[in-house]
Amino acid sequence: MKRTENTNELEAKKQLDIINELKERFDTEFKKTGIRKTYHIETFGCQMNSRDSEKISGILKQIGFVETDTEDADFLLYNTCTVRENANNRVYGRLGYAGKLKKKRPGMLIALCGCMMQESTAVERIKKSYPFVDIIFGTHNIFKLAELIKTRLDNGEKGGKHINNMVIDIWKDTDLIVEDLPNDRKFPFKAGVNIIFGCNNFCSYCIVPYVRGRERSRNIQDIIDEIKSLADDGAKEVMLLGQNVNSYGKDLNPKISFAKLLQEVEKIDGIERIRFMTSHPKDLSQELIDVMGSSQKICNHLHLPLQSGSTRLLKIMNRKYSKEDYLDLVSRIRKAVPDISLTTDIIVGFPGETEDDFMETLDVVQKVGFDNAFTFLYSKRTGTPAATMENQIEESVAKERFDRLLGVIQELSAKAAKRYEHTVQDVLVEEVNSHDENLLTGRLGNNMLVHFPGDPSIIGSIVQVYLNESKGFYYIGTLV
Ligand code: 5AD
Ligand code: SF4
Repeated sequence: MKRTENTNELEAKKQLDIINELKERFDTEFKKTGIRKTYHIETFGCQMNSRDSEKISGILKQIGFVETDTEDADFLLYNTCTVRENANNRVYGRLGYAGKLKKKRPGMLIALCGCMMQESTAVERIKKSYPFVDIIFGTHNIFKLAELIKTRLDNGEKGGKHINNMVIDIWKDTDLIVEDLPNDRKFPFKAGVNIIFGCNNFCSYCIVPYVRGRERSRNIQDIIDEIKSLADDGAKEVMLLGQNVNSYGKDLNPKISFAKLLQEVEKIDGIERIRFMTSHPKDLSQELIDVMGSSQKICNHLHLPLQSGSTRLLKIMNRKYSKEDYLDLVSRIRKAVPDISLTTDIIVGFPGETEDDFMETLDVVQKVGFDNAFTFLYSKRTGTPAATMENQIEESVAKERFDRLLGVIQELSAKAAKRYEHTVQDVLVEEVNSHDENLLTGRLGNNMLVHFPGDPSIIGSIVQVYLNESKGFYYIGTLV
């Protein structure tokens, strides 16, 4: 469907009507039984999925479901990821368990959505092996959830009882961006805000462009309005989300840069911290570096996926930068923001990776001195160019390199954490510590965690904390 303002608004109106219709149905049932139906969402994968789950949760709450923290719920949804094979396997494992729950809970609805559902092989397997699943939808039409629930319930009623009439609705791609539907934010004081959907890069190992479609930027005014309203509701921190935020605005008319968007967000009163994720190195402009350097609000943390340090492999990965480009970019960023924490993603065992290629990766890791890195064993994704490349790497070889890399990264991150030991830092207080209720947990600007004694009344505010001791992944601190 072609995107116009009008079709987006019409679609939103249609969905709101269906949400209201279901709400009436659920309210009537509640009056009869005195019991509200429950829902539970299991989210796999990245921040995009977490944000999608918040939207889904908003729709379910508006209909009249109440959230429960166990999978034994009236409506159970798995929001799936498929970036690596083991993400898929985890979902099949959970589904086996969900099937057992459903046997004991007549009328239970089981739904699946997210990236894995964009793959026809996965959907075929579910149809065959997990026929008790009720609803399957993809990444492009989560706004239709109420409509799909209504269809499933109507199908069930036609049969006189709950029969297995799986409702499947998967779109290959879309131009639609449906705004203004219900929303359920996990935290009132920090929020993820989508700015661009999809990816155009087709890195040769990556399935994301096939399951999330082409790049579509949200209108700047919609983004600004959303952040203003978040700030009015008490948000202090926003995380701008996109598979490649640096592409923001290239598809808008008139075009606008990500750096310009950041400058507009910076002006919003009440927002004190701005983060963004993820940045493709090839698109990170000098304009953005300059904005980061002069900003009062952009956090001193940048996640900049390297993937490999070997120029030869980067070319085969279709990353469009060399080892030298990456190192040059890092030195320009460090010049503008000297205390920046850099984190990265690295893939080990990409087809054809030699020991020399791997040494190049270790060399970049050492030269940059990342604060932390997410390391991944290469996982073959059917449909991507890398899946059919010759020279797939033996698992034992990849695993051995992976362990070596992890060792280096652990050393670097312990060293990086020491940098802030015995300093006072601004900390956004997020929650009561899950292991010790006398402690609060908060985040530094560079995204590291700190645990410190304090009263829960300060949750949601930015306070100053003395960092007594670094424990590798977190600090122990004292409120100043
Ligand atoms: N195998 C291993 N890691 C992958 N990633 C993406 N695709 C694959 C794959 N096929 C990693 C990349 C990316 C991160 C989100 O997941 O490092 O940046
Ligand atoms: Fe995947 Fe590359 Fe797009 Fe990132 S930029 S989502 S790694 S294709």
